Amino acid sequence: MPRRPRPHPLASRLSDRLQRRSARIGVIGLGYVGLPLAVEFAKAGFRVTGFEIDAKRAATLNRGISYIQDVPNGDVRELVREGNLRATLDFDELARMDVADICVPTPLRKTKDPDVSYIVSAVKEIVPRLKRGQLVVLESTTYPGTTDELVRPMLEEGGFEVGKDFFLAFSPERVDPGNERYQTRNIPKVVGGSTPACTRAVAELYGTVMESIVPVTSTRVAEMVKLLENTFRSVNIGLVNELALMCDKMGIDVWEVIDAAKTKPFGFMPFYPGPGLGGHCIPIDPFYLSWKARESGFEARFIELAGNVNAGMPYHVTKRVSEALNSIRKPLRGSKILIVGVAYKADIDDVRESPSLDIMEILEKDGAKVSYTDPYVPSLKHGGSVLRGRPLTPGSLRAADCVVIATAHKSTDYALIAKHARTIVDSRNALRGRRTRGVFKL
Ligand SMILES: NC(=O)c1ccc[n+]([C@@H]2O[C@H](COP(=O)([O-])OP(=O)(O)OC[C@H]3O[C@@H](n4cnc5c(N)ncnc54)[C@H](O)[C@@H]3O)[C@@H](O)[C@H]2O)c1
Repeated sequence: MPRRPRPHPLASRLSDRLQRRSARIGVIGLGYVGLPLAVEFAKAGFRVTGFEIDAKRAATLNRGISYIQDVPNGDVRELVREGNLRATLDFDELARMDVADICVPTPLRKTKDPDVSYIVSAVKEIVPRLKRGQLVVLESTTYPGTTDELVRPMLEEGGFEVGKDFFLAFSPERVDPGNERYQTRNIPKVVGGSTPACTRAVAELYGTVMESIVPVTSTRVAEMVKLLENTFRSVNIGLVNELALMCDKMGIDVWEVIDAAKTKPFGFMPFYPGPGLGGHCIPIDPFYLSWKARESGFEARFIELAGNVNAGMPYHVTKRVSEALNSIRKPLRGSKILIVGVAYKADIDDVRESPSLDIMEILEKDGAKVSYTDPYVPSLKHGGSVLRGRPLTPGSLRAADCVVIATAHKSTDYALIAKHARTIVDSRNALRGRRTRGVFKL
């Protein structure tokens, strides 16, 4: 019979506190990832403290207001009122936490190297307050090795040993903003600890709020899982974007090809071309992996190639704009272009890394007069100033020489666009046969 691991006194204590909901949960970084997670723990009956460096975010939360679209205001109001959820700027409170869950940003530097400085500063806050039996979990997407090579030595500096005095794990966040079916609670949660005791502790933590837990054997595997998932998307989007460029040259409608291909009931998964990648994950995470692979002397060719193809898409869209304007004998310089949708994907309000911003910049550089409309983004910081979104009306459509559909929000009135726009570049196939004259697809 396999031997059961001997109960670890600190792990048993943590487990007991988790089961009784008396464990104090700290979430460091209350953004798109941290806030939904904090809310989920608070809803399960834990007292949750969010640690922020953004005073405005902390104050907004403490007034019971949600600033993240997927997190309902009512939930936040109720949880804050009950005292189960609050935010603080005071990191000394970390000393009272049984769990510290790190959800800080992991951007790229200009050189496309990982910027793990936010992780380092969050861990630096934990180090002097680390206590026996505490569980530290890293949720931020990062390169394989971060938890064990970077975070662990920092936490062990003071003489504590991982798996014995405290627990450490990585658990990738898979939240998909705007997805109504899959949210924090029902997305299976991958967990990998620095030691088996750490894996058991983190599995128990998330088992209190998530429907399904997927333990893996190490933090590195857990880190790699997330990068595989996002690289898979980036590479497949790159492939289909290349196919779109190819089909354009060959006079084939790529959208019709995909629609027919996806009728295959096995071995095919549809990806769609578009104006380029956006958001905090897909354009960034694969480069965390290629950077780390390079350290081992390995060239991640698919990642680089997909990155190149995807980064070229905003230029392709602007080329289509020139073609559209050409068809009405207008030069790009001085033409009025209305961008429909500036969020990086449909039905959300996030503009980080949005390809719409690149498209706007390229068009402006070439002398076009650019405005935008987006029901989710009333105003936008762009090129050193703040732009206000226009309403989508027959007048705003008719005033534009070319309308570029860059993001296909469900609520956008495409019939109105089809009826009133002079020319249209439809990078999302959002018009779907409503009109063909003067419409330039990818
Ligand atoms: N947004 C997504 O859809 C998504 C999905 C999966 C994974 N991720 C990953 O999750 C991580 C967080 O992303 P996000 O979208 O929530 O970022 P975000 O920018 O929305 O939120 C991060 C928050 O952390 C705060 N912060 C920064 N440094 C801090 C520090 N030292 N201490 C306390 N707070 C600090 C910021 O003020 C901000 O409120 C990233 O690694 C990202 O790649 C994001």
